[in-house]
Amino acid sequence: MTSDRALLNVLRGERRDPPPVWLMRQAGRYLPEYRALRADKGGFLELVNDSEAAAEITLQPIRRFGFDGAILFSDILVIPHALGQKLEFLAGEGPKLSPRLLDARLEQLSAAPERLEPVYGTVRRVAAALPDNVTFLGFAGSPWTVATYMVAGEGSREQAEARRFAYRDPAAFGAIIAAIEQATVDYLSKQIEAGVHAVQLFDSWAGSLSPAQYEQWVIAPTARLVAALKARHPDTPIIGFPKGSGGKLPAYARETGVDAIGLDETVDPDWANAALPKELPVQGNLDPLAFIAGGDALGRATRRILDAFAGRPHIFNLGHGILPDTPIAHVEQLLAQVRGE
Ligand code: CP3
Repeated sequence: MTSDRALLNVLRGERRDPPPVWLMRQAGRYLPEYRALRADKGGFLELVNDSEAAAEITLQPIRRFGFDGAILFSDILVIPHALGQKLEFLAGEGPKLSPRLLDARLEQLSAAPERLEPVYGTVRRVAAALPDNVTFLGFAGSPWTVATYMVAGEGSREQAEARRFAYRDPAAFGAIIAAIEQATVDYLSKQIEAGVHAVQLFDSWAGSLSPAQYEQWVIAPTARLVAALKARHPDTPIIGFPKGSGGKLPAYARETGVDAIGLDETVDPDWANAALPKELPVQGNLDPLAFIAGGDALGRATRRILDAFAGRPHIFNLGHGILPDTPIAHVEQLLAQVRGE
């Protein structure tokens, strides 16, 4: 069996020219075929829990664009659901979890790991259908980012509720982090056993923490999670995406043990190239708004990233998820430029 999964090889430290490319949130609302299936099935969670539909959505952007990576269609908030919170996505309001851990204690929740079974079904279906040059990426949220939703019960401004909770009662907050950590090690192990080739940890709200809290709630739990996952699956690369980390990125790279690091659009690619270990694969970091602008703005922003990372293992991606109003033609323009077509 020969296969050349360029993205997986870059995660293992190879340089590729052109770099492999995928886009965060590539399965989603900017695609008419996604919107059609969502209207048909009724809602986002219905799609996530329907392995056949979720596998189809995972594959839609691969068929249309030929990306080098396919990301599992699910959400980071399935972990709070499996830990016993009720999960809803209300139209126009975003996710809601109840009871929130400002009002209830972790011990009052009854864990329901079977709620994750449909996700493993999705992974098995995609793994069986994926072209052999495409890398299949599983994912989970990082303990800190998931905890911010579990505590506040929803998205929150500057994650103030979780940060206050962590200062007020570090032992109780530490127990929440530990519960997420353990559930996530198990969840990612099962994704790997069902067929993903690599995994990404989304730490979307890493940027709101002070340096001391960052060490305690981002770096330490991520390092423990990475070590536990590596003990079970030593050959599966792990991408860390600590959005908003800025000057803390070198410490994150040094101390967590991740195999590759995702950069958000606020990071200067030349700075990152100089500040991060030479052999460490990096992923990123086109501004999703330059992507929407298209034309020369997109061309220049893309060039700058390609040039900065030409000398190291690099995976081209956005700095954050693709926005729903991104024109399909801009995805085509980007791919043509990255691939030199
Ligand atoms: O294509 C992919 O990247 C794979 C699937 C994926 C989704 N969410 C699907 C989704 C992934 C990797 C995520 C991660 C996720 N989910 C994060 C971390 C990354 C980030 O964007 O910061 C976070 C914070 C969440 C939680 C979440 N899910 C929120 C706050 C929302 C509502 C806001 C929004 O964008 O609609 C979601 C919903 C969600 N997750 C959608 C999709 C396709 C939109 C659902 C819909 O309306 O159809």
